Amino acid sequence: MTTITFKDETSGKVVQMPVLEPTYGHRVVDIGKLAKEFGYFTYDPGFMSTASCQSAITYLDGDKGELLYRGYPIEQLAEKCNFLEVCYLLLYGELPDAEKKQVFETSITRHNRIRENLRRFFHGFNYDAHPMAMMTAVVSSLSAFFHDRLNVLKDDEDRMVTARRLIAKMPTIAAACYKHSIGDPSIYPRDDLSYTGNLLYMMFSLPGKRYEVNPVAERALDVLFTLHADHEQNASTSTVRLAGSSGTNPYAAVAAGIACLWGPAHGGANEAVIRMLDEIGDLSKVESFIAKVKDKNSGVRLMGFGHRVYKNFDPRARIIKDICHQVLESFGHDPRLDLAMRLEEIALSDPYFIERKLYPNVDFYSGIIYSALKIPVEMFTVMFAIARAAGWISHWIEMITEKDQKIGRPRQLYIGNSRRTVPVLSERQ
Ligand code: CMC
Repeated sequence: MTTITFKDETSGKVVQMPVLEPTYGHRVVDIGKLAKEFGYFTYDPGFMSTASCQSAITYLDGDKGELLYRGYPIEQLAEKCNFLEVCYLLLYGELPDAEKKQVFETSITRHNRIRENLRRFFHGFNYDAHPMAMMTAVVSSLSAFFHDRLNVLKDDEDRMVTARRLIAKMPTIAAACYKHSIGDPSIYPRDDLSYTGNLLYMMFSLPGKRYEVNPVAERALDVLFTLHADHEQNASTSTVRLAGSSGTNPYAAVAAGIACLWGPAHGGANEAVIRMLDEIGDLSKVESFIAKVKDKNSGVRLMGFGHRVYKNFDPRARIIKDICHQVLESFGHDPRLDLAMRLEEIALSDPYFIERKLYPNVDFYSGIIYSALKIPVEMFTVMFAIARAAGWISHWIEMITEKDQKIGRPRQLYIGNSRRTVPVLSERQ
């Protein structure tokens, strides 16, 4: 076994820490004994160097721009599989054969409705509530249902049915959020439609009117969902793992992940990209905008650019850029694509972005596709949440079934007052 030697210069104590070998990628030093041996904790804000768990689900190499789900490259999955096959892969570790695929799809269809009393929850939200606020609350409220199948810490099949229920209900909840925000009644899912076809139908059909699912939109959404389905130990997935590590109800753990995803540094970036493009407004203003981004005092970032892990092209961004062109060919040109391409062109040749290894990420072009599909900006992060639910629940299952699973409990570097005495009221300043 390879080890790394740690030496405390003050005491002279030397301890060997084991190096854990991955199946692929970076090696990891096991520092579990550090506090016991030396009395020190490690300090790593933002987890820049810290592996928080072992996982066999997703691998990504930010320097190479490589992303694998269960070993399969994202480019191949996007081309050869549909989103539900990818969900199956994330959950079960292998791609389904024809029979398993059909059984899985039927099971997802069977669970796609939400209870009538849950549908009535939406009436409690203000008409202008952000769909992510509704999504977080409604997914959390699934905890109040399905008590019959929540022996999830012990029962394998209860865990799997929870996963299928979650994946199945996400589009129905998302569409109901959208319908509520425009004051329309929610639409029941149809069992003859595909996963993404059903989502489009529930969002855009009107009672009593015929609705045809557009196959280009259906496929584009399906690929986008595959690309967003999982991304290793990102902030929201780590949130789901941490919340879930206490043994809490899985729907509550996933709701915590949705709340985390909402932020503009994470899933909220696709919404921020469109707002940025609208603010720029015209090709003639692109260069002055880039100058503002480079001015540290402006506080302006080029949204949809940069990534904590990818220091090379985000492989998902390449695929999304291609789909963006296909979708706009079918739905009509959007001048925001010209703006985005010009921003990308300038940024990729500018030393500011080159030195910092800032490339377009998954969110740079996805908002333009969603806009072409008439999905409103407030719903962009909801789309991301539908897809990422597959990753969240797969990681939750992996975490909860781990041998010797422990509650997550980081340490801190305390910088407050040291011990002191409470003064009586008359002596306080
Ligand atoms: N525009 C301008 N400068 C940037 C940007 C950007 N988008 N991203 C990073 N930088 C600069 C940053 O100012 C810093 O410069 P310096 O070294 O001079 O201080 C340097 O690059 C490193 O940035 P950082 O903030 O330390 O990097 P990070 O790994 O903590 O942040 C990030 C990663 C994604 C939060 C950041 O790149 C960012 O804010 N990007 C814009 C938001 C965005 O598109 N988010 C979506 C991420 S992908 C989808 C997802 O996974 O949810």
